[in-house]
Amino acid sequence: MTTYLQHSLTALQRTLPDAELEITPLPTVEQIQLALINSDFQTGPLPADVMYRVIAHPAYWAFCWGSGLALARWLLSSTAFVANKRIADVGSGCGVGAIAAKLAGASEVVACDNDPDALMVARANADLNQVQLSYAGDVAELSGTFDLILMADVLYDKSNYPLLETVKSLANDIVVADSRIQSIDDPSFKAFHQCEALTYPNLGEFDEFKDVRFFHAGSSLASQ
Ligand SMILES: C[S@@+](CC[C@H](N)C(=O)[O-])C[C@H]1O[C@@H](n2cnc3c(N)ncnc32)[C@H](O)[C@@H]1O
Repeated sequence: MTTYLQHSLTALQRTLPDAELEITPLPTVEQIQLALINSDFQTGPLPADVMYRVIAHPAYWAFCWGSGLALARWLLSSTAFVANKRIADVGSGCGVGAIAAKLAGASEVVACDNDPDALMVARANADLNQVQLSYAGDVAELSGTFDLILMADVLYDKSNYPLLETVKSLANDIVVADSRIQSIDDPSFKAFHQCEALTYPNLGEFDEFKDVRFFHAGSSLASQ
């Protein structure tokens, strides 16, 4: 086990002592392998002390969220749009969007997440897929101009909405994939794609979150 994987497992078990990391090809995007929480993890009622830990340190990065999975699929089928671009994946979690962008031909991809454990597992997953990423712990650390910013399932929390304004000042194009919102209340973002995907592993996600909506701000996508 690599050091990044070992540290990721330690971080996961700090929150969920009975959890393991399982390395699996991502369903429907099988060229990507990810270390994620074991798919047979028992989700029954958790002891109170574990529940408190989950609330304090949610370990979102131990899952590939439905929007990240859908985004990876879209990036890998949009190589002409992605190729040679400098990209940041904001709220990168397990790293799925960043890894897919690199595999789709991006020149540089920065995985940005404000959870240090997420950056750790993104490093482990980048190694598993033999891609090189750059890393940032906060959008404030994203320096220089980006061609494209990606955000997948980051708008589950309304307090993250201001990130949309921040990333608009950093890149020519923004692509948001999200199953938690129906629309973006900013006319510069236009819906352009929709597909179905659930979080993997699926430990009981509600079907109401299976529709992933894609929004784009910028000009490059129109000229594809
Ligand atoms: C629901 S997860 C989605 C992860 C990944 N994009 C995916 O689709 O699998 C959201 C991620 O956004 C990160 N996040 C939330 N707010 C953030 C912020 N202000 N800056 C950077 N990352 C943030 C969280 O730490 C978490 O890893």
